[in-house]
Amino acid sequence: MKITMIGTGYVGLVSGACFADFGHDVVCVDKDAGKIAAIEAGTMPIYEPGLDQLVGTNAAAGRLTFTTDLPEGVKGADAIFIAVGTPSRRGDGHADLSYVYAAAKEIVESLDGPAVIVTKSTVPVGTGDEVERIARELRPDLDIQVVSNPEFLREGAAIGDFKRPDRVVVGTTGSERAISVMSQVYRPLNLNQAPLMFTGRRTAELIKYAANAFLATKITFINEMADLCEAVGAEVQDVSRGIGLDKRIGSKFLHAGPGYGGSCFPKDTLALVKTGQDYDAPIRIVETVVQVNDLRKRAMGRKIVKALGGEARGKTVALLGVTFKPNTDDMRDAPSLAIVQALEDAGAKVVAYDPEGMDVAAPMMPGVTMAGSAYEAASGADALVLVTEWDAFRALDLKRLASSMSAPVLVDLRNIYPVAEAEAAGFTVTRVGGKGSAA
Ligand code: UGA
Repeated sequence: MKITMIGTGYVGLVSGACFADFGHDVVCVDKDAGKIAAIEAGTMPIYEPGLDQLVGTNAAAGRLTFTTDLPEGVKGADAIFIAVGTPSRRGDGHADLSYVYAAAKEIVESLDGPAVIVTKSTVPVGTGDEVERIARELRPDLDIQVVSNPEFLREGAAIGDFKRPDRVVVGTTGSERAISVMSQVYRPLNLNQAPLMFTGRRTAELIKYAANAFLATKITFINEMADLCEAVGAEVQDVSRGIGLDKRIGSKFLHAGPGYGGSCFPKDTLALVKTGQDYDAPIRIVETVVQVNDLRKRAMGRKIVKALGGEARGKTVALLGVTFKPNTDDMRDAPSLAIVQALEDAGAKVVAYDPEGMDVAAPMMPGVTMAGSAYEAASGADALVLVTEWDAFRALDLKRLASSMSAPVLVDLRNIYPVAEAEAAGFTVTRVGGKGSAA
């Protein structure tokens, strides 16, 4: 099969490389000539474990090519995927679909025969209808099918998630040709027994938002439980385990922390809220989740100031991890941004170290000094705050850290270290949701 991928962002580049790895012929198209040249030279635009190697092998095998020429790229394609960005529109939180529609228009104008256009970008309900309208208006002569195929991969685990998905959702308007093309596109996943689920197009669009909003709700629920645990003297990790062992609830996404961030949950929850309001079917639970999560990120700053003894002015706080989660250099809506803001507002000086995120983070937090290692960050600091649970932070020499600091205060926002261990190393410890598991 020949597959064209429009957009070489997270979803486009990972999906394109994985499709090529399954043996399809893939052309990735991006307007950004610098980005395409860099990828061709082996430099990935994002940090994602294994991606450079996957792109390299498939490009060398001739199955994965890159171009800035969209009309050339879509020629003879069996399926053309739109995987461009859908950021939050400034001001109102609606998804900005201008890139999706611009790509759709250019694709349709370049077609020389029937085509299946697939939206992989996260798009609100009804976007497929609009793409179809554009297609009919510009090329009434051609049979163009528009399909929705949302992507559920996670940053940092993107290749594994793409190749071994829990499910693949394909939304169509019932066209047999579209169903047959999409079945062939995903046939290589049959061996991994990934359920391929066909639905209506609007339903598929909504499934993506419902999934992200549900996960964001699960996280927010446990974060509020964590606050309650702190207030009543209970332990949130045991609460998570105690409820997560119930198969109807499940143990995943029940880690309390500083609030969810990233390029998806904040944007998608907001867009779902807007859709609900537009259709007079408000999703009040998600409206609350959005508010609670925003407040939580800022509250983490206050939690740190409290751990400093209530006064941050003139003190130095060292942050370990700035990206919104490990194994990515993505800083979008990272809790660290709100934490730095709150600490700087309170008069503290902030030092930070992150294994991959510092280049991206530095211009976003100009007042922060970037250190060369976790130990360098901690040296002379009045508090050490674990913000992102990178593997590299899981077995630090706590004694060495504590003894190098002005005051051995540890604020573990990811509950990585057992309290007893950190206390034995000399730290005064603040965690999220209690004093640690009794088990
Ligand atoms: C999320 C979804 O998990 C993917 O299925 C989806 O495809 C993707 O959005 C998307 O829409 O593109 P991602 O944003 O990469 O993936 O990251 P997650 O692993 O879901 O984490 C999101 C945020 O939730 C992070 O800030 C993380 O620290 C936080 N989180 C996650 C918690 O605080 N606790 C948890 O138990 C799990």
